[in-house]
Amino acid sequence: MTWSEPGADGLGEAVGVLREWRAEGTPAQLHPGDLGWFWRSGAAATAAAVRLWRGHGGRVLAVGLLDGPDLLRLAFAPDVRRNEELARRLAGDVTEPGHGVLPEGRVNVEAPADSPLLDLLAAEYGWRTDEPWTPLARGLADPVEEPGVRVEVVGPERAEAFAAVHRSAFGGRRFTAERWHAMAAGLPYADGRSLVAYDGRGEPVAAVAVWSAGPGRPGLLEPMGVHAGHRGRGYGAAITRAAAAALRELGASSATVSTPTANTAAVATYEAAGFHRRPETHDRYRDASNRP
Ligand SMILES: CC(C)(COP(=O)(O)OP(=O)(O)OC[C@H]1O[C@@H](n2cnc3c(N)ncnc32)[C@H](O)[C@@H]1OP(=O)(O)O)[C@@H](O)C(=O)NCCC(=O)NCCS
Repeated sequence: MTWSEPGADGLGEAVGVLREWRAEGTPAQLHPGDLGWFWRSGAAATAAAVRLWRGHGGRVLAVGLLDGPDLLRLAFAPDVRRNEELARRLAGDVTEPGHGVLPEGRVNVEAPADSPLLDLLAAEYGWRTDEPWTPLARGLADPVEEPGVRVEVVGPERAEAFAAVHRSAFGGRRFTAERWHAMAAGLPYADGRSLVAYDGRGEPVAAVAVWSAGPGRPGLLEPMGVHAGHRGRGYGAAITRAAAAALRELGASSATVSTPTANTAAVATYEAAGFHRRPETHDRYRDASNRP
């Protein structure tokens, strides 16, 4: 038995299990919002990037997202997250290029911190530990402070403002208004919102997308950024507070995010917005030099 692609029709099943599996008190793993953000490339590309591992009776045991050709991000059903046999099956699938999950060359795997897969890849296949990431979270039992700037929910008429801030914040050119529309047409966006913050002159200065996994479950910020020309004025912390408030309205129990530890500006911004650091996480990676 091996992995399968969901096809456009099966994406709903993948999103559904990712929602169910995300719960407070368990290690962070691939969130339905990660699929939601990937959906900016369209439903067909999303379907082609998702991998499902099924058990007896066809039940989905693990979901993978190829978040780029060389990065597989995984989530597990809670009862098999620590299952050795499933971890072995996945270790084989990601290690053998012939299994078609990951190509030859340098590739990364992200999995929940307590998954035996991470240790197996290191101990038996020689995979290495990559740079640290810092997860952060803010509980949403209590109301969130006002952001202190004008923040609006993005609808079709503000797609270009969202896209322009995103391009400036992340230094890319590819995120256009069409991509926002593709993201907003995706299944996970039923529980997603995007927000833009404006400065006193009405210029869009910060943007964020938030994703709920359903009431009482951790929500996700992905992505969050401030226009390069407007940094250091509190807009990052402001849009992050607005994001937490939006997730609270959607019923999320907490707001979560993860960023490379080296991105000290992002870590400081989340902390300024009331998020607390959680223990660092690490991907595993292989390249030509660490074949067993
Ligand atoms: C990270 C980012 C959003 C910060 O936005 P910003 O508007 O400049 O941040 P703020 O002015 O709200 O600052 C918030 C806090 O972070 C601190 N901070 C901001 N930039 C910093 C930097 N380069 N180094 C250290 N601390 C920094 C501020 O001092 C402030 O802390 P304080 O309240 O304790 O004084 C912005 O740099 C950005 O868009 N980066 C690129 C996209 C990105 O990395 N997004 C996050 C990915 S998960």
